[in-house]
Amino acid sequence: MTEPPRASVERVAFDRVADRYDETRGLSPEAERAVAELLEPELAVRKPCLEIGVGTGRIALPLARAGVPIVGMDLSVPMLARLRGKAGGRRIPLVLGDATALPFAEAAFGSGLVAHVLHLIPDWRGALTELLRVVRPGGVLLVLQGGRTSLLGDVEDRFRQEAALEDAFPGLDHDVALLDREMASRGAAARSLPTVIERRTVSLSWFIDQMEQAAYSWTWWIDEPTRHRAASAVRRWAAATLGDLDDQREIKSTIDWRAYDLE
Ligand SMILES: C[S@@+](CC[C@H](N)C(=O)[O-])C[C@H]1O[C@@H](n2cnc3c(N)ncnc32)[C@H](O)[C@@H]1O
Repeated sequence: MTEPPRASVERVAFDRVADRYDETRGLSPEAERAVAELLEPELAVRKPCLEIGVGTGRIALPLARAGVPIVGMDLSVPMLARLRGKAGGRRIPLVLGDATALPFAEAAFGSGLVAHVLHLIPDWRGALTELLRVVRPGGVLLVLQGGRTSLLGDVEDRFRQEAALEDAFPGLDHDVALLDREMASRGAAARSLPTVIERRTVSLSWFIDQMEQAAYSWTWWIDEPTRHRAASAVRRWAAATLGDLDDQREIKSTIDWRAYDLE
């Protein structure tokens, strides 16, 4: 009997999707601006900021442009190269490394930023320990866990079901309550920052193609023939239940940052 696919890896570097990351995860210009305006006041008074898993700079670059001193670190050379290419000459210190073993001195930073990363790190508690070591008391950690959008979430669930995927993420699933408890046990109280609404237009056929072509990390544990089979089954199901797959649909999602104040 074959085992169901699951995420059992130590490190999830995004090398293989660096060239299409922004196309599949990019924020609308409005949401990008709103996120930068939301985070800038938190970070401007707690300098400098370290972003672990900075990727292509989706969050870091607008903040750097707004004047926030920010250091980016990531496991992936191609993701950092994309960031560098987009920075247009702006000097942003970038460090290659693993968030569970940060190459920085104790209390070197005033704040930490973690966007869509903890679900990828099996030892996510170790990554938090490292952040709490390098961010000074009185600092803040700003964390964005992945959200769920109703329509695309349903299509994604169906794909996982068709592929019999058991664990989609090696690290902290999108469980904010667990993160709050973990941070509370380390003496850091949680605050919610105001929700940012993101609107984008996509077709279901585009989205199913992206899953089939392994654009998202949770699809990397599914072998290629299974991905093709799952995509065909999801196309049939979606066409029968959701209508024309080529229709452009407005997808509204919420971006909910948590702030953890460090004592
Ligand atoms: C989903 S992307 C998020 C990128 C960026 N934070 C954003 O919101 O667009 C996750 C990034 O985390 C990086 N990553 C995964 N595990 C890591 C680890 N243990 N240490 C550092 N970076 C890691 C990946 O290479 C990838 O660039």
